[in-house]
Amino acid sequence: MQEDLVLARKEGRVGILQLNRPAQLNALNDALMDALGIALLAMEQDNDIGCIVLTGSAKAFAAGADIAAMQPMNYINVVRNNFIGRNWETILTLRKPVIAAVAGYALGGGCELAMMCDFIIAADNAKFGQPEIKIGVIPGAGGTQRLPRAISKSKAMDMVLTGRMMDAQEAERAGLVSRIVPADKLEQEAIEAATIIAAMSLPSVMAAKEAVNRAYESTLNEGVLFERRTFHALFGTLDQKEGMTAFLEKRKPDFKHE
Ligand code: HXC
Repeated sequence: MQEDLVLARKEGRVGILQLNRPAQLNALNDALMDALGIALLAMEQDNDIGCIVLTGSAKAFAAGADIAAMQPMNYINVVRNNFIGRNWETILTLRKPVIAAVAGYALGGGCELAMMCDFIIAADNAKFGQPEIKIGVIPGAGGTQRLPRAISKSKAMDMVLTGRMMDAQEAERAGLVSRIVPADKLEQEAIEAATIIAAMSLPSVMAAKEAVNRAYESTLNEGVLFERRTFHALFGTLDQKEGMTAFLEKRKPDFKHE
């Protein structure tokens, strides 16, 4: 395995992972997805990290799964090797938040990977798309499911059936991205957002992520019940006392993440 396919570093309590196959516009091959999974799990285990930023290069977050690697594949080997299922969804197992910081192309599997993150901050030059239809297949890492939930059926159908790209402005209007920032400020803005999150009490951050994700997986009543139970449980943390006491004492909280 080539270790430099994913560059990992820390700034304060923020872990930063950068996809690093710039010559192929970060096309996502098996080795890169293995490396990404390992790096994500290491950051999940690291007690000094409270939030993760996943980014690419200035030209591409990722231009999709590696077409050169996929071209010779056939049905039986994608089934046997559990293509996608084997190493693409590690990110979904993380309890810490992951922010996608997207500049340039986020296409196909690149768009799907960004959508697996908890939210997307887009550079003003970002372009999103699910162009798989143009190469004779369909999205295979959740695009047909997450895109309609993120941006409505009509727009998702348009994207998936025509393969057209959506610019950052359209993506923000549609609700795919949470904010747009100037391309040269992308990393800084994403790290600032992550720093704010990482300063919060980690148990409440993880609970908040889990509760919001329930909105996609349950009925409203079940989701609200889950939220209520989780809210009650947080009164068992030291950080609840610290957060509320700090407010009353008009000072910043000093969360211990317990
Ligand atoms: C393999 C890729 C690639 C990809 C780009 N490259 N995208 N290699 N897989 N997905 C390579 C090119 O072959 C080229 O290599 C180099 O990166 C630069 O790309 P260019 O095409 O020369 O750049 P440009 O003209 O600027 O065009 C950029 C682009 C175009 C519009 C993003 O590269 C493009 O359309 N890429 C494919 C996008 C796509 O179809 N993605 C979906 C893939 S399917 P050389 O060696 O020639 O310099 C998918 C399935 C997901 O993701 C299913 C589950 C994961």
